[in-house]
Amino acid sequence: MEIAGSVALVTGAGRGIGRAVSLELAKKGASLLLFSRTEGPLLETTEEIRRIGGKVIAISGDVSSREDARKAVRLALDSFGRLDILVNNAGVGYKASITELSIDEIEEQIKVNYMGSVLFIKEALPHMLKQGRGCIVNMISTLARSYSPGWSAYSASKAALMAFTETIREELASTGVRVIGVYPSLVSTDMMRKLAAGKGRALDPSDVAKVIVIAIEQSDKTLLSDIVIAVP
Ligand SMILES: NC(=O)c1ccc[n+]([C@@H]2O[C@H](COP(=O)([O-])OP(=O)(O)OC[C@H]3O[C@@H](n4cnc5c(N)ncnc54)[C@H](OP(=O)(O)O)[C@@H]3O)[C@@H](O)[C@H]2O)c1
Repeated sequence: MEIAGSVALVTGAGRGIGRAVSLELAKKGASLLLFSRTEGPLLETTEEIRRIGGKVIAISGDVSSREDARKAVRLALDSFGRLDILVNNAGVGYKASITELSIDEIEEQIKVNYMGSVLFIKEALPHMLKQGRGCIVNMISTLARSYSPGWSAYSASKAALMAFTETIREELASTGVRVIGVYPSLVSTDMMRKLAAGKGRALDPSDVAKVIVIAIEQSDKTLLSDIVIAVP
């Protein structure tokens, strides 16, 4: 897909991988609607994009709220007239064994990591189908496929998103809407520092973002689908 002139909505755009993907898309000439919970970091990303001449607006909200997802997609359409790229990146992770995890923490991971992506897809998809063009990028994790102690609820939330991603990719194959699953290993962000400090080498968010942008660019030429980005 040609990124220049397209419109992209990125969730979790205030920090980490979401911020890096937003910047890369802006450098390639996309107009951006940025979404995440906290206003401060969201404004910092917005200013960084404006400094490089990008077109950007931001709205804060919770990805697990139907109303907030509806508002964000509506704002993208009202502001830019279309929506071509949706990056479902917002996510939370709590590392704890099943005896330590609270029900609230388990539920939040499902609501944010899985249902948050589903809500944004349900809002964005009708417009992409009408356009006959779109690219949905779901930020999953290597932990969706390989399981290790401490990550039960996080892995389950990402495995749910993986199953959803792989199924809708096939359902939408003939519509012009592409669906990409991204499976990073450790990436150097606040989340990683909080959860896996000192656990070996980590990827740079900007490198992960560059690979994602290439996958979006290639998405209408191939049925390229999953990208696994691991520490070399
Ligand atoms: N870092 C890694 O090693 C790694 C590896 C594999 C996959 N991932 C996945 O990559 C994605 C990004 O992770 P990251 O490492 O960049 O995390 P991060 O630095 O902690 O940033 C997370 C972003 O998501 C937003 N967010 C969290 N909950 C939200 C909610 N309920 N509603 C709206 N926005 C919300 C945060 O907003 P606030 O600023 O408002 O909190 C923040 O902008 C996540 O889905 C994560 O699971 C990360």
